[in-house]
Amino acid sequence: MTALLEVQNLSVRYGRSPALGGVDLSVGEGELVAVAGANGAGKSTLVNAVAGWSRGRATASGAVRLAGREVSALPTHKRMQLGMALVPEGKSAFERMTVEENLRLVRPPRHAAGTRYEIEDVYRVFPQLPDRAQARCSTLSGGERQMVAIGRALRAAPRLLILDEPSVGLAPRLVVEVLEHIRRLVSDGLSVLLVEQNVKATLEVADRLYLLEQGRVTGAGTRAEMRDDQRIVSAYLGKLGR
Ligand SMILES: Nc1ncnc2c1ncn2[C@@H]1O[C@H](COP(=O)(O)OP(=O)(O)OP(=O)(O)O)[C@@H](O)[C@H]1O
Ligand SMILES: [Mg+2]
Repeated sequence: MTALLEVQNLSVRYGRSPALGGVDLSVGEGELVAVAGANGAGKSTLVNAVAGWSRGRATASGAVRLAGREVSALPTHKRMQLGMALVPEGKSAFERMTVEENLRLVRPPRHAAGTRYEIEDVYRVFPQLPDRAQARCSTLSGGERQMVAIGRALRAAPRLLILDEPSVGLAPRLVVEVLEHIRRLVSDGLSVLLVEQNVKATLEVADRLYLLEQGRVTGAGTRAEMRDDQRIVSAYLGKLGR
C-alpha cells in the first residue's frame, strides 16, 4: 500500500546554504507522525517544503507525493486543494477578527479531498471555542489561538494536516491538551505530520517519530522504539523523563 505522504530525497537550500539534505519520510493513512530535533535542525524547512511554502527564498529538490501523486512542482494552494493543510510555525489567526470570522474566512474547495468541517464541527472538536466565538483573536489565550489556527486548517477539508509546533509557548498541561485534540482528529480519520518540541508529550500520542539533526534524518521508528532510542532519551527524556 502506498503511504498518503511520501517524501523522497528532499533537499532544501536557502541561497547557497543547505538546510535539508536528502530526507526520506512517509505518513500513512490515519497515522500521526512527528518530527523532532534541535533548534535549526530543519524541521520547519522540511514541513514547509512538503507543503510548498517558504518564508524565504528556498530551493527544493526531491519528490513529494500525496496519495501517489507527485506534487513537488505544484504551488501551495494546489497542494491544499489536493488535501494538504499547513499551519506554519508561529502563525495563528487574524488578530483583529473574531474567532468565528477567522473560521469563516476559509472555505473548503469544491471537490474537497478530506472530511469537511463546518464551523459547528470545529466547535465540536474544540468545545472551548463557542464561548469565545465573538471574541477578537487578540484577546485569546495561547491555547485558544492554536485551536483557531488548527480549526482554520480543518476548514480546508484536508487529508493531511501539517502542524509546525502547535504547542509553542503553552504551559505543559495545555501542550498535552492540544496533542490530545490532535490525536482525536487522527482517530476520526485525518493523517497528521507534526513538528513538536515537547518530545516526551509527543511520544504519548504519535505513532512514529523521526529525529532530524542538521538537516538529515538520523533516527526513525515507532513510538515504542523511539522511547528507547538513546539519543532521544539523553536529549529529550532525561533520566527521570520516563
Ligand atoms: N528563510 C530562511 N532564509 C535563510 N535561512 C533560513 C531560513 N529559514 C531557515 N533558515 C536556516 O535553515 C536552517 C533550518 O531552519 P529551520 O527553521 O528549518 O529549523 P527548525 O528545526 O524549524 O528550528 P526551530 O526549532 O528553531 O523552529 C537554520 O540554519 C536556519 O537558520
Ligand atoms: Mg521551526
